[in-house]
Amino acid sequence: MEQLQQAATIFLFLSLISFLANLSTAAAATSRAVFVFGDSTVDVGNSNFLSDAPKANLPPYGVDYPGRIPTGRFSNGFLGVDFVAKAAGLRRSPQPFLSLDPNARHGRRGVNFASAGSGVLDTTGRYVMRMTQQIQYFSTFAGNLTAAKGARSAAAFLNKSLFCVSVGSNDLFARSAALIPGNSTQKDEIVAAVLRQFADQLRSLYQLGARKFSVAGTGQIGCVPGVRRRVPGNACSQELNDLSLRFKTGTRALLEQLGMELEGFRYSFSDSFEIGSHIQSDPQKYGFTELAAACCGSGRLNAEGRCTPNSTYCGDRNQYFFWDEVHPTQAMYRLGARLSIYGPRQFAYPVNIHSLLMN
Ligand SMILES: *[C@@H]1O[C@H](CO)[C@@H](O)[C@H](O)[C@H]1NC(C)=O
Ligand SMILES: *[C@@H]1O[C@H](CO)[C@@H](O)[C@H](O)[C@H]1NC(C)=O
Ligand SMILES: *[C@@H]1O[C@H](CO)[C@@H](O)[C@H](O)[C@H]1NC(C)=O
Ligand SMILES: *[C@@H]1O[C@H](CO)[C@@H](O)[C@H](O)[C@H]1NC(C)=O
Repeated sequence: MEQLQQAATIFLFLSLISFLANLSTAAAATSRAVFVFGDSTVDVGNSNFLSDAPKANLPPYGVDYPGRIPTGRFSNGFLGVDFVAKAAGLRRSPQPFLSLDPNARHGRRGVNFASAGSGVLDTTGRYVMRMTQQIQYFSTFAGNLTAAKGARSAAAFLNKSLFCVSVGSNDLFARSAALIPGNSTQKDEIVAAVLRQFADQLRSLYQLGARKFSVAGTGQIGCVPGVRRRVPGNACSQELNDLSLRFKTGTRALLEQLGMELEGFRYSFSDSFEIGSHIQSDPQKYGFTELAAACCGSGRLNAEGRCTPNSTYCGDRNQYFFWDEVHPTQAMYRLGARLSIYGPRQFAYPVNIHSLLMN
């Protein structure tokens, strides 16, 4: 009896602790904002406002989004960054910058500046909001914030905000046509050129007040259906994967260096390449049965023709890794986000996003 009571007391005590912990988590989370920069992997609708940019504003894009709305997300539903925003305590994902009223671009919970087709380099992508431009817009935003709230409180706000950056694949794709097979010097030169500019961009964000960075590395870009359909036997392009591997390794090293160089710079690196390889090695474990073909499109691997309202698309979308010829499905984004937010160092380095948010 006494033992039971003791057990019950301990149980209540533990419940109370976890209740209080949840409360403080919620409190910390609700005071946070999320700012997003990059390409189509994190664009939640800016491209809809750019007349000649690549778009995902027609069905069946968004077929699994609430209300089946094609929002501009290059996916059948949500993107990884939507799940990250949720984990940060936001009720809805930060809105596309270009959708906000120009006279009231407040974004108290953050803003999404990402633009499909953009890259680190200004020469990557046409008709898009370049990274340079995205950071310029954020600079104006931060300036207005400082004017409105005062320097101290603006700095404190940005200090605990999360800065999500997902970019680089388009830079690599754009330069892949000129790749000389087996020439690693050439790959290293490409990677170094992109990283130099990327380093400047991350430093700019830091100088504008960003402290917590969630940076996604480039994935197995040689395995996207749009590439595989051109390779004999529909295999992955080892050249492109090798280029991406070098870039993501360089990105991680860059973040390590910035962490040492810049006071208070903290980050979580999401290793998309590692996450992708891990899933490819044991797809069944995660319920995936189709890793090569796109769900939506036409022709070989559903990747010769784009995903348009005329395309056929798969019914079992949770079993497909890819939605269209380059972009993952919501199922894949959700899993990738889960491994980045809560996963081990193998996937999220040196800490996961959850830990970055909590400390
Ligand atoms: C933000 O600042 C810029 C000038 O730096 C100004 O043109 C713009 O109107 C301001 N926006 C808001 C919403 O205050
Ligand atoms: C930023 O946050 C860190 C802890 O995460 C804290 O030590 C530092 O004082 C904060 N700086 C500002 C300006 O709020
Ligand atoms: C490899 O690439 C480098 C740098 O672009 C170039 O100078 C060199 O000639 C290339 N080597 C071969 C064998 O193509
Ligand atoms: C879709 O199909 C209709 C009728 O079959 C055709 O007129 C239209 O050009 C097609 N659109 C695309 C984007 O292929």
